[in-house]
Amino acid sequence: MKDQTLILGIETSCDETAAAVVANGGFVLSNIIYSQIDIHRGFGGVVPEIAARNHVGKIDHVVQMALDEANVVLDDISAIAVTHGPGLVGALLVGVNFAKGLAFGADLSLIAVNHLEGHIASAYLENAGFAPPFVAMIVSGGHSHLVHVRDYGDYTVIGRTQDDAAGEAFDKVARTLNLPYPGGVEIDKLAKQGNPAAIPFPRAKLGDCLNFSFSGLKSAVINYLNTAKMKGEQVNDADIAASFQEAVVDVLTKNAMEACKATGCNRLAVVGGVACNSRLREALMDACGENGIKLHIPKPVLCTDNAAMIAAAGYYHYTVKNFADMALNGSPSLQLGEGICT
Ligand code: KG4
Ligand code: ZN
Repeated sequence: MKDQTLILGIETSCDETAAAVVANGGFVLSNIIYSQIDIHRGFGGVVPEIAARNHVGKIDHVVQMALDEANVVLDDISAIAVTHGPGLVGALLVGVNFAKGLAFGADLSLIAVNHLEGHIASAYLENAGFAPPFVAMIVSGGHSHLVHVRDYGDYTVIGRTQDDAAGEAFDKVARTLNLPYPGGVEIDKLAKQGNPAAIPFPRAKLGDCLNFSFSGLKSAVINYLNTAKMKGEQVNDADIAASFQEAVVDVLTKNAMEACKATGCNRLAVVGGVACNSRLREALMDACGENGIKLHIPKPVLCTDNAAMIAAAGYYHYTVKNFADMALNGSPSLQLGEGICT
């Protein structure tokens, strides 16, 4: 094992307690994810305090499982990479403090990883040959970003949401349709039975820039439902789901193509939980095919929150000796390209 660089990744920024061991920035030796979704579902969303408490209860077991499944011991590990932001502060602090304690006790280097940088690095996992420069579209429950990745660690944000994130819009619309949390996957399933052209929901276009806005679309769905209710009209939930999803997919696909054109990149990585969406994958494949762009979307388990992506991002900090110290803290509002992560 000593001839490889093995990074132990730890991720606790929201409601997944995750640990993974990744070799040389790309080979996943283990990827353990304890999801708290069943606990939060009853509340219709993530409850920060409950998330933090559950991380505390699970983190040591999850980390041990990641080492065991990779068939390594702490002595084999080169460094520990941990998400330090953005995310829920209580949740972040569990991972950061656990990683600090483990690094101190085992005399290992500590690496601070930005969660968004982690999502970008998911494109390198099990995908030898994929390297910067490229455009990354991060579409998750908390973020919708278009990023020009010029090199490892060299990020320029070229578009971002002005209000709701794409996944947040999926989750909120799902709630209005009485679908369980998290709603993205439920809308994806329901939409398969609906007509995407049934209702012309708005597609926000913000001038010439590559920013997104999804809150008007979300309000349009709610208004549509309220108006139908007032008039006593029946609605077709599958048509609403399909039409809403199509509006999100249209905007994401269009902006991603424009971002590739604006940066001169012919490679696009689409990452984050919403990248699991089946219609988005289909639309992006078509658009990239038409525009001569090489598309990479990681497999679903690497799109949603996981620690393998944190270990992959950590590897590139390791190669340039960009280490954190014991003063590392959780940074709930950390931006990409800010703080310890360059
Ligand atoms: O990346 P992620 O696991 O967590 C964040 O960093 O936010 O993304 C979770 C988001 C949720 O909003 C969830 O509804 C959405 O990803 N999502 C989907 C699908 N699967 C997960 N959205 C649309 N279609 C899906 N199939
Ligand atoms: Zn995420």
